[in-house]
Amino acid sequence: MDKIYDYLVVGSGAAGLYFSILASRSGKVLLLTKNTLKESNTYYAQGGIASVEKHTDSFQQHIKDTIKAGDELCNEKAVEMVVSEGPGIINELISIGVKFTRDRSKGYYSLHKEGGHSKSRVFHFKDITGRELIRALTKMVRENSNITIIENMAAVDLLTEHQKEDSSLFNPRNITCYGIYAHDPKTKKIHKILSRSTILATGGSGQVYLHTSNPGVATGDGLAMAFRAGATVSNLEFYQFHPTTLYTEKEKENSFLISEAVRGFGGNLKTKDGKSFMHKYHRLKSLAPRDIVARAIDSEMKKRGDEFVYLDIRNFPANKIISTFPNIYKKCLDEGIDITKEMIPVVPAAHYQCGGIETDLHGKTDIKGLYAIGEVAQNGMHGANRLASNSLLDALVFAKISALSVEKYISRNVINFSDIKEWEYYHTERPIEKVVVSYLRNTIRRLVSEFIGIVRSDERLKMAEKMIDLLAWQARDYYMQTELSRETVELRNIADVAYLLVRFAGFRKESRGLHYNIDHPEKDNINWKKNTRLRSSGRRSKSVIIR
Ligand code: FAD
Ligand code: SIN
Repeated sequence: MDKIYDYLVVGSGAAGLYFSILASRSGKVLLLTKNTLKESNTYYAQGGIASVEKHTDSFQQHIKDTIKAGDELCNEKAVEMVVSEGPGIINELISIGVKFTRDRSKGYYSLHKEGGHSKSRVFHFKDITGRELIRALTKMVRENSNITIIENMAAVDLLTEHQKEDSSLFNPRNITCYGIYAHDPKTKKIHKILSRSTILATGGSGQVYLHTSNPGVATGDGLAMAFRAGATVSNLEFYQFHPTTLYTEKEKENSFLISEAVRGFGGNLKTKDGKSFMHKYHRLKSLAPRDIVARAIDSEMKKRGDEFVYLDIRNFPANKIISTFPNIYKKCLDEGIDITKEMIPVVPAAHYQCGGIETDLHGKTDIKGLYAIGEVAQNGMHGANRLASNSLLDALVFAKISALSVEKYISRNVINFSDIKEWEYYHTERPIEKVVVSYLRNTIRRLVSEFIGIVRSDERLKMAEKMIDLLAWQARDYYMQTELSRETVELRNIADVAYLLVRFAGFRKESRGLHYNIDHPEKDNINWKKNTRLRSSGRRSKSVIIR
């Protein structure tokens, strides 16, 4: 009999690492990640973690700001839960050794202000908060004997009733998850990994866009796997673009972020001729919420035919800039820009997936034994637009709440693991041609960027749907017709996410939060103050149910 874990955690960002630490107190954890333990969106987080500091702020204000940014689609219960857990989470992080920058003059932690926040409430470590969080959490995970770590192995698909010998038992409304199949690129083997519970903490899908702040691992794997297995996914039309990533002429796997904290610090957005423009779009000017700033930049660039706008912080003392943003200063200097003397060329880039696998307030999906936490999940916290620095908080709080809930689930349920099949080697031995994979991957990404970007139209979405259907079919076909590889696994997932994005963007016939359609420019609360939701009716079936 194969070994059966209590908790199988897929992904080693903030959500996966923190969940693993907490769950290891009550069972055996397998933590699987497709790159090294550190490589994740979390590692690159700059701004920090939003949380109320009780002397200067209130839960009510943080809740109000979050709901306002979410444009009437947040689940208020989720927001209340996450915000009120904030100070506890910050204290727990401090107690396990996470460092936050202090403000010596006030004798307390230094708190940044970011777009859409009415108060300074972002705890941070210099401008490398994510790196610090990952340092402390990975240290704990590596020292924990109840956690087995597997790096450089990618989950390919979820194990559900579909993989039982008698798949006639399959009932699309009553699916259980028994673990995953995972691909080991070294041995080229597919492992069947069994677990009483499976926690998807696989992060976002920024790589479905050509320009993104997300690293190469963010290919939407968890979202695509859960959708294929029959889980409900929701609100995927709400893709957040970060207004300011560094513009460079060379195409890169991802774009370097210029933190929103730089605008909180006083950075001013200007067109190429040095003129401020944000006063035309919002009373908060450069510190307006992200969706508004990203759309304003997009509109100025399109009107003027420019490839970027500038972010200007030159009027602040150089030593203050360098001590507050040492990483941004160094990175820009490496690109030949001294931000204390020169303006920073910036462009918006895909940054955060607000929709995802639908869960309840415990991270539970509608597949039994399957949980989703962090960016891969849609738990109601962010609604139609996420407030800056709320996602690390969301990932950590849901890791904590779901660890308790999963513990109860595994202690109360006897799970029958018999008859689960080994991976069927229906793939051929034919090696992949990298040129085909990169062509399909880049074509899908370019299409998504140009047709499902910051501003959408009915016509473009209709055209995109047809083209994506064809490309997705080719990507899936190539995946099946060649030997299994990391490249084709990711290609299939990117294709599935593109398929979902275009469908979700097409459903919503209004503009709200991050979804802006020029043919439906107004918000329509009568018809659309609701989540959009989709569920595939079975793994190999293409049909889809809208509920
Ligand atoms: P991630 O941290 O992305 O981790 C996902 C993990 O899953 C990775 O380890 C990945 O390798 C693994 N994985 C993926 N697919 C598979 C697979 N098939 N098999 C095995 N493993 C897999 N948010 C804030 O709140 N504050 C900030 O300051 C901030 N700054 C940001 C800056 C940047 C540049 C970026 C990209 C994002 C930023 N965000 C910020 C957003 C935030 O970092 C993410 O939303 C958050 O870190 C997500 O955490 P996570 O644990 O859900 O996923
Ligand atoms: C940033 O530092 O601007 C990123 C913050 C976030 O995405 O929440």
